[in-house]
Amino acid sequence: MASSSIDRRRFLILAGSGTVAALLASSCGNSSTSPVEANDATVARLEQQRRKSGARSVERQLVAAPTTVDLAGRKIATWAYGDTIPGPELRAKVGDILRVQLTNQLPEPTTIHWHGIAIRNDMDGVHDLTQPTISPGAVFTYEFALANAGTYFFHPHTALQLDRGLYAPLIVEDPNDPVTADVDQVLVIDDWLDGIDGATPEKKLTDLRQRGGMGGMGGMNGGTPASNAGAMSGMSSNLLGGDAGDIDYPLHLINGRPPADPATVTVASRARVRLRIINAASDTAYRFAVGGHRLTITHTDGFPIRPIEVDTLLIGMGERYDVIVTALSGVWPIVAAAEGKNTIAAGVLRTTDATASAAPSPDARPTELDGQLLHYSDLVPAESVTLDARRVDRTHRIDLTGDMMSYTWGIDGKSYPKSSPLNVADGERVRLEIRNKSMMWHPIHLHGHSFALSEGGARKDTVNVLPGETRTVELDADNPGQWMLHCHNTYHLEQGMATIMSYRR
Ligand code: C2O
Ligand code: CU
Repeated sequence: MASSSIDRRRFLILAGSGTVAALLASSCGNSSTSPVEANDATVARLEQQRRKSGARSVERQLVAAPTTVDLAGRKIATWAYGDTIPGPELRAKVGDILRVQLTNQLPEPTTIHWHGIAIRNDMDGVHDLTQPTISPGAVFTYEFALANAGTYFFHPHTALQLDRGLYAPLIVEDPNDPVTADVDQVLVIDDWLDGIDGATPEKKLTDLRQRGGMGGMGGMNGGTPASNAGAMSGMSSNLLGGDAGDIDYPLHLINGRPPADPATVTVASRARVRLRIINAASDTAYRFAVGGHRLTITHTDGFPIRPIEVDTLLIGMGERYDVIVTALSGVWPIVAAAEGKNTIAAGVLRTTDATASAAPSPDARPTELDGQLLHYSDLVPAESVTLDARRVDRTHRIDLTGDMMSYTWGIDGKSYPKSSPLNVADGERVRLEIRNKSMMWHPIHLHGHSFALSEGGARKDTVNVLPGETRTVELDADNPGQWMLHCHNTYHLEQGMATIMSYRR
């Protein structure tokens, strides 16, 4: 491949220049290099550069606590930020400094991860890597500059807390955004089991471990459908390369509401509506559409692309898409169909002049769901965010590994924290080749950076990797620290499908 011939040519050039020992030391992860930790002076220095003089600071208080929410008349005990799911939307402008004081009233430790933000490493919220956990009763203040505009969200990075109600949008507006809209509406999609018929995320994980461990389901080889529990329960999808997920959730929510009591977006007829779609689910990809409308995709994972019009898109856990819809007069279903799971999350788009009073039926499946689908190869970055062409300094090849039978997941056969770190150095162009050797798809997320997809070049921080597939991405290592790279399936992360992209010096 081109990459290895470039690497080889560089090796030969360097071999003649006496720096080969240094190159070998760094590319072999030799222990003579030391990690750039979250409390390193370079982290603080870079943050100072992000802060422009006169920057506004946006201050918020958050309380993570047990609460009760109403899901279409069912009273459900869960954990949330405040009393709502999603938690309160945070909105700021690019260049602002966000200061969020979190009070932990949960019965267990927590942290907040600011998903997708190119943040200072010591505010990234990964316990025991970038900060200690925040104990029950304790208070911690997150403070960081917002260097990039876009659609982000935040959630704990602790145990299975994300599969409760602990998530909320973080929107960073760009005053010079070329995409204009009359209405800016966030739609957070989530799969829900907590408190339904006694279910909890912890019981579900126990169940998955036992169900897998019972044996007789075959191994990783052969590709027999019986080798994974998802296919056994009929949750399969061609779009996801087979097994759609591990858990058949009883409910799917948009903005914390199930289809029987949908969130309604009311706008003027002909309004240009910007929908910021966030998948905060734990084990579900969604096929998204608005009945009667086309979607103009403008951003993915916060970064602008050349606008493209489609009928529907597939969004994995941790991904975000911004789309523009021009509202036609009437009442229309907003649907996020749980891919491969035969059930939906739904909301309603209604114009103020609509005469129909009834909402579309809660199981409406608009034909747009089977229309023209957005593919990664359609995503072309806006010129302003196109990664410049540059020689790759370092390539890491990793395998996503694991299986339903043992219900262990990992990277290169090792579960976090045993997985080997991916060493990089500040200033390098890094290529990651992510190969999925398991029989299930994984949405892979990198903290603190965005990468460019080799296919099309769009900037993203989360990418779905299907079984048997290799996804290649490139990034500029420009944010020193220790950064997680992991599967955004909450249960796969808990079971170890994670490693660290580790800056070394
Ligand atoms: Cu939203 Cu480490 O993830
Ligand atoms: Cu996974």
